[in-house]
Amino acid sequence: MKIYKAKDYKDMSRKAANIISAQVIMKPNCVLGLATGSTPIGTYDQLVEWYIKGDLDFSEVTTVNLDEYKGLPRTNDQSYYYFMHQHLFDRVNIDPERTNVPNGMEPDAEKECGRYEELIRSLGGVDLQLLGLGHNGHIGFNEPGEAFEKETHCVDLTESTIEANKRFFASADDVPKQAYTMGIKTIMQAKKILIVVNGENKADIVERAFFGPVTPEVPASILQLHNDVTLVGDKAALAKIG
Ligand code: F6R
Repeated sequence: MKIYKAKDYKDMSRKAANIISAQVIMKPNCVLGLATGSTPIGTYDQLVEWYIKGDLDFSEVTTVNLDEYKGLPRTNDQSYYYFMHQHLFDRVNIDPERTNVPNGMEPDAEKECGRYEELIRSLGGVDLQLLGLGHNGHIGFNEPGEAFEKETHCVDLTESTIEANKRFFASADDVPKQAYTMGIKTIMQAKKILIVVNGENKADIVERAFFGPVTPEVPASILQLHNDVTLVGDKAALAKIG
């Protein structure tokens, strides 16, 4: 695993955006796996800035997002579809037809998860998968458990996740109770993985995930077994790993 220590959030975002840019320049028709959450927002802003400057061209890029809430329409500003359009897709010259987010409005989980796996397969797999890291070690919506869930699947959100997300919705009843997410095998099949972390509240989990035992209790720990992982973190998040 390569580890890049950044001075701060801005520096982390620039370093991560540089790695994504390199991928897009080296292979203009690459497949990028993308994540939502607060950590990659600065990375997307940096990519947009370089696109506006004329240094990046997304016209041939295809994207596949990690996850989406089940039952939330795309027009809801908490959907991951909405997030991706707001932070990246609507700001660069990507072809909307080549952007893919699990369809949260498909009620048949088996159908949607099968479709998404097949889609990734038909694209020839993911060239570079961007990930954030949850405080409990989750990646995508793969929460700590007794086994690694392999392929794209439907998850029941934990009470704590519903509780944490409540602030974004009118009431706890409006918070989606399920989500579709790429599985661990889907993620591990990406040719390259880029994981971004910032803030001192991620320092413990960074140590457990990348220097602790590989266990489904810390889903991100499986990344230790991938042969092309780059971790980019700010000083605070990497404080415990020297
Ligand atoms: C987002 C995702 C999540 C986040 C993780 C970290 O698509 O799948 O696993 O990457 O929850 O979120 P932030 O970046 O908000 O700390």
